[in-house]
Amino acid sequence: MHHLTSCSPQEHEERAPDHMHDYTPPNTCSTPSECLPLSQWNETMECGSELAVDTMKKELKSRSILADCSTRMRSIVSFYFCYLLCLCLGIACVVFVSIWNSQWRGGFAWDGSALQFNWHPVLMVTGLVVLYGNGAVLYRIPLTWGQNKLPWKLLHAGVMLLALLCSILGLCAVFDFHHTNSTPNLYSLHSWIGICTTALFTTQWVMGLAGFLLPWSPMSFRKLLKPAHVWMGGCILILSIVSCISGINEKLFFALKGTTNGTMPYGNLPPEALVANSLGVLIVAFGLVVLKILSNQKWQRPEPQSEDLGYSPLLQDDS
Ligand code: HEM
Repeated sequence: MHHLTSCSPQEHEERAPDHMHDYTPPNTCSTPSECLPLSQWNETMECGSELAVDTMKKELKSRSILADCSTRMRSIVSFYFCYLLCLCLGIACVVFVSIWNSQWRGGFAWDGSALQFNWHPVLMVTGLVVLYGNGAVLYRIPLTWGQNKLPWKLLHAGVMLLALLCSILGLCAVFDFHHTNSTPNLYSLHSWIGICTTALFTTQWVMGLAGFLLPWSPMSFRKLLKPAHVWMGGCILILSIVSCISGINEKLFFALKGTTNGTMPYGNLPPEALVANSLGVLIVAFGLVVLKILSNQKWQRPEPQSEDLGYSPLLQDDS
């Protein structure tokens, strides 16, 4: 096949198909030219065989389709790996925060006592971190892409509403506890960041409802809102994680005073501190996995070609 440069048109007519069969692609290609040996085909083209060119085009096309498929498969597998990690870390966060407050902090009640406070970390971690993070990545699940978007929009809004209700209840627990015990409100850095996070999340949910679910919201508003909604969604997750880390730290400093309240000092790393610190690490890991899923362009739900359809509200569903 390497003698083709000097073939006569007639010779070439006879040889071209053989030449096609002669070529065996390498098992592994490290460079595009190894996979697609165009230089050899160019020689054929100079000799003018349309059959060879057609076959070459078909082969190139099927190879690029195969390469595309395997890239997509790899991307889907790595998505599900991250998603599984996200689910496991989320469950671990809820388990750790519940064990901490039931085993070391005395359990739960709604009577203005310290046991009422214990609802605060459990509801905040469950709502503003775990439910929120899972609600945020719902659209990225490839299994949902071929389906009607409407049920997923409703599920996204529903999970976020549940997250919001948990966090409002979690705040009621701590405000009411402070009120019963005449403790001042909103004095700490944790409480400042925490209250801003919850306020932003409430605004985000209301704007999302108005922009993406109500049928009378103008198209221009929805187009403007979408990038802001996505950006703000990531910011709220980061702020929730910061709130949790500062809250856990604050609680451990309050609770583990050593001799004054019969506990081991924080500095000795008692089992309670080990569990609460691990909770903090799990929350950070969960947040990083969610942010990784949200930031990967390949894992975005493909929107319809028409820009307008991509922003359709509840009663004009797309796809
Ligand atoms: C997204 C998560 C969280 C948010 C938005 C949040 C928000 C708040 C807010 C607004 C307050 C002030 C209540 C008041 O002034 O009456 C507060 C208090 C408190 N939170 Fe959180 N919190 C979160 C998670 C946690 C976690 C995981 C802990 C761990 C135990 C925690 C521990 C505390 C403590 C000890 C207080 C009382 C002292 C203070 O006001 O700073 N918080 N939290």
